[in-house]
Amino acid sequence: MYFKLNTLLLLLAILFETIITSSARRSNLHVQHHGKATWFYPGVGACGVSNTSNDLVVSIPAKIFDKFTPHKNPNENTLCGKQVSIEHEGIVIYAVIADRCSGCSKNNIDLSLSAFALLDDPNKGVISVTWKILN
Ligand SMILES: *[C@@H]1O[C@H](CO)[C@@H](O)[C@H](O)[C@H]1NC(C)=O
Repeated sequence: MYFKLNTLLLLLAILFETIITSSARRSNLHVQHHGKATWFYPGVGACGVSNTSNDLVVSIPAKIFDKFTPHKNPNENTLCGKQVSIEHEGIVIYAVIADRCSGCSKNNIDLSLSAFALLDDPNKGVISVTWKILN
């Protein structure tokens, strides 16, 4: 079997584009976000796991979460269970991705009550954070 030069060039172009877009997606995933954090009472999240306010879990922006949902099934989302580091005024905590935040713009997150409480007074409602998906 042989390829015409045109076909070969086209295949190479597709290959390079795939490599470039997938590595861009990978590095985007671990980018540092500067945004706001709010808190919520976890229940059964989009990942399909039931958590409580005592669990250190985080709900991440739908815009990011949805890129990793295969077969339209959020329970299979590959970000579920990944660690997120969250920093606020020198305090760093780690929480596990358990939910999809439809009301969060792409730099904002929603934390379980206990996770938020480790960073600041929940009565504040909203705080500034820097966060990053780790693994
Ligand atoms: C969330 O809940 C599941 C069980 O429902 C548990 O296995 C998991 O450890 C909890 N996550 C955290 C971060 O506590």
